[in-house]
Amino acid sequence: MKTNNSASIVERMVIPHTAFAEARQRIEQCFAFSAAKAEGEGLLIVGESGTGKTSVLKSFQLNHMPTRGCDGMEIPILYASVPPMPTVKSLAGVMLAALNAPDSERGTENEKSRRLRILMKETGTRMVMIDEFQHFYDRGKRQIMLHVADWLKVLIDETRSTLVVAGLPSCRVVINENEQLARRFMASIQLPRFSWTDSRQRGEFISILEEYHNQIAKDFSLPKLYSEELAFRFFLATGGLMGYLSKLLRTTLRDAADRKRASITLEDLNIAHARAMWFDATVQEQLRPFEKGFRPEVTVDALNRATRIGTVADLPEKPTRPRSGMRKAESINAALVAA
Ligand SMILES: Nc1ncnc2c1ncn2[C@@H]1O[C@H](COP(=O)(O)OP(=O)(O)OP(=O)(O)O)[C@@H](O)[C@H]1O
Ligand SMILES: [Mg+2]
Repeated sequence: MKTNNSASIVERMVIPHTAFAEARQRIEQCFAFSAAKAEGEGLLIVGESGTGKTSVLKSFQLNHMPTRGCDGMEIPILYASVPPMPTVKSLAGVMLAALNAPDSERGTENEKSRRLRILMKETGTRMVMIDEFQHFYDRGKRQIMLHVADWLKVLIDETRSTLVVAGLPSCRVVINENEQLARRFMASIQLPRFSWTDSRQRGEFISILEEYHNQIAKDFSLPKLYSEELAFRFFLATGGLMGYLSKLLRTTLRDAADRKRASITLEDLNIAHARAMWFDATVQEQLRPFEKGFRPEVTVDALNRATRIGTVADLPEKPTRPRSGMRKAESINAALVAA
């Protein structure tokens, strides 16, 4: 009988594909030299939704977890996720909470900033990771973007820490708001979606499927996920995004466990695909590549449809309505990704 443990094989896997491993290695290098540097340093990880930005940060953080020393807790890495509609004060609150500060919501912006700097020194924090950084861009207020960029520059200079920022491509705009902050940043790290037409990336996508296959095959019988033909169906189903690929496989295994089945077929993948993916009822163009009778042919149309998976371009525009701040932020993300 298939257990929940078998069904969560995919959740437990982190696949260090080339871009992922490179990102982790760049973070590692900054971390290793963080004690010796003359000024604060910054690293930006950008990529579309589901390319693995948070996974890179979390997998690195896992290797440097807090420890209890004789002088209290050591927290080498502070991970904070920017809340929606952020201010510097609310970000400082989230960062204080990440260092286990009591009453992290209490105090003015200045008080919080001061407490944060003291606490970072006490806990030996050498790296600050800020995820979902595009929320500062989505906020749409230039003053807030300027302010957070200034604030971060001062924070990393005063604490000599390394700042790792992750977000959708629009978050670059925030870093550019302060030339001194921008100067402290290294070249950014891109986490791309995989492409089918680039042979190296296609090979990598197929290798990822092979890794999934080998793990899943320990508990389930299944078709060869990494055959060129099936891999292409997966590409069309997921747009080459790790987020959708892992979600599709996760859903497939959960369905199999629910039905107490030890085998996975193309039809199971088809059902899981329909259940796992966000389909917009008004968009007719999404493919059902695991459906019986679907011909997996590499056409420009099929590739274009796959590339649009996960982008806001999937949403039909309403030409007469004025665009809100959020829509503007989304469209710059799509434009920056396409550039
Ligand atoms: N290298 C990887 N190996 C295994 N699973 C991965 C990998 N990269 C991403 N995933 C999975 O894909 C999903 C999305 O990843 P993640 O949350 O890191 O993306 P993200 O770039 O942070 O997206 P968002 O911008 O929406 O926050 C997660 O379920 C994660 O487990
Ligand atoms: Mg994320």
